[in-house]
Amino acid sequence: MAVGIFDSGLGGLTVLDAAQKRLPDVDFLYFGDNAHAPYGVRDAEDVYQLTSAAVHDMWARGCDLVILACNTASAAALRRMQEAGVPKGKRVLGVFVPLIEALTERQWGDNSPPREVAVKHVALFATPATVASRAFQRELAFRAIGVDVEAQACGGVVDAIEDGDMILAEALVKSHVDALLRKMPKPEAAILGCTHYPLMEEVFQRALGPEVKVFSQGQLVADSLADYLGRHPQMLGTGQGGYFTTGTPARVSSRATQFLRREISFDAA
Ligand code: DGL
Repeated sequence: MAVGIFDSGLGGLTVLDAAQKRLPDVDFLYFGDNAHAPYGVRDAEDVYQLTSAAVHDMWARGCDLVILACNTASAAALRRMQEAGVPKGKRVLGVFVPLIEALTERQWGDNSPPREVAVKHVALFATPATVASRAFQRELAFRAIGVDVEAQACGGVVDAIEDGDMILAEALVKSHVDALLRKMPKPEAAILGCTHYPLMEEVFQRALGPEVKVFSQGQLVADSLADYLGRHPQMLGTGQGGYFTTGTPARVSSRATQFLRREISFDAA
């Protein structure tokens, strides 16, 4: 029995780690498309084709439920995949909605009309493709009114993390935060809208200052997955767990072990 967690690369491990802690009895199958990361600089068609191929592979391995632990794939591919029709008994879900429900203080699945919420100025940090899609603003508009969102496309951060160059990643995060603060000097909340960014969460928080509430997806997605599986226990799937990558398994395993601070061993997808 395994639930699938997909990302373009290593970022989805931040969601996987929270989900494993929240649901210790559930097996997970992680799929990192590291050979094609970063997705954030690709066009929507490309992201759709890559995401769709990976999710079909995960379904074929016995996952009934696949979580796109990738905002870029959630923005560019999720709706199109759902509209194209998923095989019987299979589901694919994204990571935007739990985050926006937390930001707008909604219960899971509360689909009542948009209303005023406490936060008025929100900084969004995401990949160039996620920012260009405006998917975050669209989902937010279904739930909240009067929220000003300033988005910063954080070019280069995913590449630096995938390469294990955390010094470069830190410098880039600081410069992207500076650029955002020039456009919006006093955000009340900041969204880490890419699952790679929680690996740099302290750097974001320090650069933004202590008064800015930083939202990241790991825990929020894990809690919402636990709630979903409680309501749909048949979605636990029939396949085996494990870690698969389209990249070089030894290299990806060593980075994953460094990030999660425990032994992680990837196989070739
Ligand atoms: N972790 C992916 C996300 O959440 C990174 C996308 C990329 O590969 O650029 O957007």
